[in-house]
Amino acid sequence: MATFMTGATGYLGGYTLLELLEHSDERVFLLIRGRDRTHQVTKLWNCLQLHIDLPRFREVLDRVVLVRGDLHAPSLGLSDEDQKQVLDECDSILHGAASLNRMSSRVCVNSNVRGTMGTLELARAMHENKGLRRYSFVSTAAVIGDRRDEHLFEDDALDFDVNALDPYARTKRICEELVQRMLPPETSRVIFRPVTVMGDSRHPRTTSFDMPSAFVWLAQLPLVPLKPDTKIDIVNADWVGKVTAAVHLEAEPKHVIYFLSAGEASPTCAEIGQALEAWGHRPMRFAPALEQGFFRASRAGTRLPRSNPLQGASVLIKVFWPYIVSNVTHDNTRAVAVSGPPTPFQDYCAPYFHWVQESRLRYPYVPLPDDFEVQS
Ligand SMILES: NC(=O)c1ccc[n+]([C@@H]2O[C@H](COP(=O)([O-])OP(=O)(O)OC[C@H]3O[C@@H](n4cnc5c(N)ncnc54)[C@H](OP(=O)(O)O)[C@@H]3O)[C@@H](O)[C@H]2O)c1
Repeated sequence: MATFMTGATGYLGGYTLLELLEHSDERVFLLIRGRDRTHQVTKLWNCLQLHIDLPRFREVLDRVVLVRGDLHAPSLGLSDEDQKQVLDECDSILHGAASLNRMSSRVCVNSNVRGTMGTLELARAMHENKGLRRYSFVSTAAVIGDRRDEHLFEDDALDFDVNALDPYARTKRICEELVQRMLPPETSRVIFRPVTVMGDSRHPRTTSFDMPSAFVWLAQLPLVPLKPDTKIDIVNADWVGKVTAAVHLEAEPKHVIYFLSAGEASPTCAEIGQALEAWGHRPMRFAPALEQGFFRASRAGTRLPRSNPLQGASVLIKVFWPYIVSNVTHDNTRAVAVSGPPTPFQDYCAPYFHWVQESRLRYPYVPLPDDFEVQS
């Protein structure tokens, strides 16, 4: 039987899809929004060219079924014909699509809450049809909310009395609750909670720029307004894709919830600074006393005209600041037992930041050749 997957055209989705295809012979049905099949194929190529070349992409297309849909639409926007094929052929769902827009409740409710409800309705239909082997949901460690200076474990991390950090994290909490309550009780379900995911341990390239550009910007300041011993829990995307696919394919996962995190091995700001310095970056000077004032200034900077380059940087800092300064780490014993530990961020952050900076925050996408045949 096959997996029905959402979010395959996203940064993490590409990693996860290729792992699923490598470690299973099953086909994967991909829900992709798009005007038509050509548009869907183009989006998938734009995502996967970070990892594979054109001949391999052709092979991937032979293993996947592209289904047109949208998280915002009733029944995920699936045509009757597509819904029937999905129910006939799929026995598991891997729901990774989401909006990471931390500024808009409207978008997060529509994409995250309504989208998750759509996948849960599909899961129930699968369960009643030929049986549902697994429902996996890609959540986020941000569901833990506004906490400081803690080391957290999966089963005691979610507390609805703790303020959520933003609309994105709030809606992901609701999604986790829906997954826990709305599936038939006997359904095997898994919830993945990645922490901040940045970069690939094998090469410096990325198609995801928001978080790394905030870091690059901070690293360039003459005084970095952070405590040098603050830990930042960051993992490499290749590891996240590996764990997600491995657990999704497991016959009987040992746990329901998995933090995908660096845990106690998370680097401190000073360690990240040292790794950059070893690569030729000037030594970072930390000024923790400036932390509050810097955050207030960033908030004010978001009101600058968009034409001002400080406006964009201020928006990024305002959005990511709570994630950077929390000094919270997340236990990763469960995930490490599946795929070994993630690569320490210090081992690859310098070439990665260098590439991000050189790229001017744009991936050099290669278009599909004009004669590329997009079969229907
Ligand atoms: N990246 C991180 O650091 C991080 C950390 C923790 C958790 N996560 C979680 O990991 C998952 C993937 O994140 P990501 O970084 O890969 O995000 P991303 O690059 O923004 O990808 C989001 C994916 O969701 C799809 N999507 C969004 N809205 C949709 C809609 N209305 N209908 C259909 N598909 C829609 C996108 O499709 P289009 O191509 O059509 O836009 C894309 O495939 C998310 O659930 C996120 O919460 C990510």
